[in-house]
Formats: sequence, structure tokens, C-alpha cells
Amino acid sequence: MSDKERLLTGELAPGEDEEQLRPQRLDEYVGQDKLKENLKIFIQAALQRDEALDHVLLYGPPGLGKTTLSYILANEMHTKVRTVSGPSVAKAGDLAAVLSVLEPGDVLFIDEIHRLPKVVEEVLYPAMEDFVIDVMIGGEGSGARSVRLELPPFTLVGATTRAGDLSAPLRDRFGIVSKLEYYTNEQLQQIVRRTARVLGAKIDDDAVVEIARRSRGTPRIANRLLRRIRDFAQVLNNGVISKEIAETSLDRLQVDSLGLDEVDLRYLRGVIERFKGGPVGLEALANSISEETTTLEDVYEPYLIQIGFINRTSRGRVATEKAYRHLGITQHHQNSLF
Ligand SMILES: Nc1ncnc2c1ncn2[C@@H]1O[C@H](COP(=O)(O)OP(=O)(O)OP(=O)(O)O)[C@@H](O)[C@H]1O
Ligand SMILES: [Mg+2]
Repeated sequence: MSDKERLLTGELAPGEDEEQLRPQRLDEYVGQDKLKENLKIFIQAALQRDEALDHVLLYGPPGLGKTTLSYILANEMHTKVRTVSGPSVAKAGDLAAVLSVLEPGDVLFIDEIHRLPKVVEEVLYPAMEDFVIDVMIGGEGSGARSVRLELPPFTLVGATTRAGDLSAPLRDRFGIVSKLEYYTNEQLQQIVRRTARVLGAKIDDDAVVEIARRSRGTPRIANRLLRRIRDFAQVLNNGVISKEIAETSLDRLQVDSLGLDEVDLRYLRGVIERFKGGPVGLEALANSISEETTTLEDVYEPYLIQIGFINRTSRGRVATEKAYRHLGITQHHQNSLF
């Protein structure tokens, strides 16, 4: 993600809080049940064989727990995790440096793996498949030669918000490929309760429900909203997070009744008011509301599609009747396809 996206989704300056709130074990990790059950088996099998866990690719919208899960995998395998981010690994040598310090069984977490440069990606292929890398030594020109280095068995965990941007050869080298799903209300309630406990905040049950409902299916957003609401509660309500305080705070934070924020609403108004409900191409829409296409595609659209407000058709984005209703706008039928 870009810094802008991080800011929008609340990840910028995660600080100690985000670390403190990350569950450490698979059993504390809420939701993603199918994935979790499978991972338990793969972990147990790898431990019994005394092998590294197979490489894991996690994809899905920001804030759903990809980084958290990669740390958990290392914990469950009783190993360490090393983290790098795709764009920060510019040259083949940068990756070789990271790989060469891995110890047996370590987890190498590559965030935003779709942004690895091609030359770096090619170093990964033999590293993933045979635990070897070929490094060039002797500098440029005729003195240069390639030397093969053995690596200890390790687990690559790749995370991306855009699985479609990954090259097929890279994707095919992951033994476990999984999409993280948006969380249900009940799961978000569990997360809000847990976070309140960790933060030592007093919270009423109906406030938990309210925050969960307005968190866009996303744990990071739930945690961020809870922290902000805790501030309001501390200053205005002796620290108690009641439903009332939650509602006023969320209104003041411009989070609407479904958890849609100001950009979601601009997106929907853009489609409905400027483009008569669509279909509209992503580029045209992004221009008209001054947002980047990737931000809309990775951060905003997945949720709007999930809740059935937007359909992606071959001719472009179309607002559904549900979206019209939520905005309180009457739909004129000649413009609607759905
Ligand atoms: N399954 C979960 N159970 C409990 N808390 C969770 C879960 N998933 C995520 N969280 C919380 O949400 C926060 C954000 O999760 P995380 O950083 O892992 O998301 P991400 O998918 O890596 O996002 P990005 O794509 O932006 O890197 C974590 O700090 C953690 O507290
Ligand atoms: Mg992450």
C-alpha cells in the first residue's frame, strides 16, 4: 500500500498500540476459520516432520490480518520472523542479503510482494523451490561470476492486496494460497471486546455491537475506532464507553451507520450523481473524485462490492439499488441495469 492508503486505513504510525493488539497465537486469531483449521494441520505436520512450513501467500484488502497471521505462523512454528517490504528490496543483492541470514525454519515475511522488482523476483524462484540462490560476485564486466549459495529451509510468507498483480511463476511457488475474508459482525465484536480488555477500557455490550457494525468488516478499523472512542469516553464520560458515547463519537468521526467513511460516500455519490449510476470506468470515476485508481480498487471497492452497493461489470462500475437507498437518492430506471 502507499502511505496515503496506510493513512486512510489507519495503519500509518502503527506504533506500539498496533503491536500490542496483535494476537500472538492461532487460537487468539479471530475468524478466517477455514484457513485457520487448515493451517493448524499444516503446522502440526511440518512440526512432526521437523520441516519448515510450506510457503504461504495471503491476499486480501488492507487491515484484515495478513501481517498478524504471518507473525503467528512463526510463533506456532517456534521460529523467528524477518520482515521486508516489496518496494524496499530494490536489487537482487538486497534480497540475497536478507536470505543469507535466515536460520533453519525462519519465516521470511514479504509485505506487498506484488511490488518486488522482476530481477528480485527471479532470485526468489530457486530460493523457494530448492533453497539456493545464485549470487554474482566480482562486480561488473568480465570478472563477474555466479556462485551458488545454499540456504537453510525457510518459509516465505507473502502478503498482497493485489493477488492479480503477482506473476504466475511466483504465485505457483506457494504451497498454501489463501484469501482473507471480511469479518462478520460477531467476529468483529469479539475483536472489539478483546481490544477493550487489552487497553483496559470499560465498554458496554451495546457499544461493542455498534462499533463492530461500523467497522467495514475490518479488524484494523475496529481497533482504530475503539481507540478514538475511548478518547471521547475518557474526556466526556468518565472513561465508560456507552452506546451513546460510541454513537456520538462515530458521528463526529464521520463514520456513517454502515461504517462508510467520507471517501466511500464520495465514491458512491460520484457514480450516482456524476455518472447517473454507471456504468462508469474506474479511471473516469477516480479522476472525478480526485482519488488514485489503486486506492479505490484495493481499499474502497472490495467492501462496497461485498455489501452489494457496487457491481463491477464489463462496462464499468454500477451503483445498485441498495446504494441509492442508503444515500436516500431516488433511482431513475432508465439508468439502472440492476
Ligand atoms: N483475526 C484477527 N483477530 C484479532 N485481531 C486482528 C485479526 N486480524 C487483524 N487484527 C488486528 O488488526 C490489526 C491489523 O491487522 P494486520 O496489520 O495484520 O493487517 P494486514 O492485513 O497486514 O493489513 P495491510 O494489508 O494494511 O498490511 C492488527 O494489529 C490486529 O490487532
Ligand atoms: Mg500488513
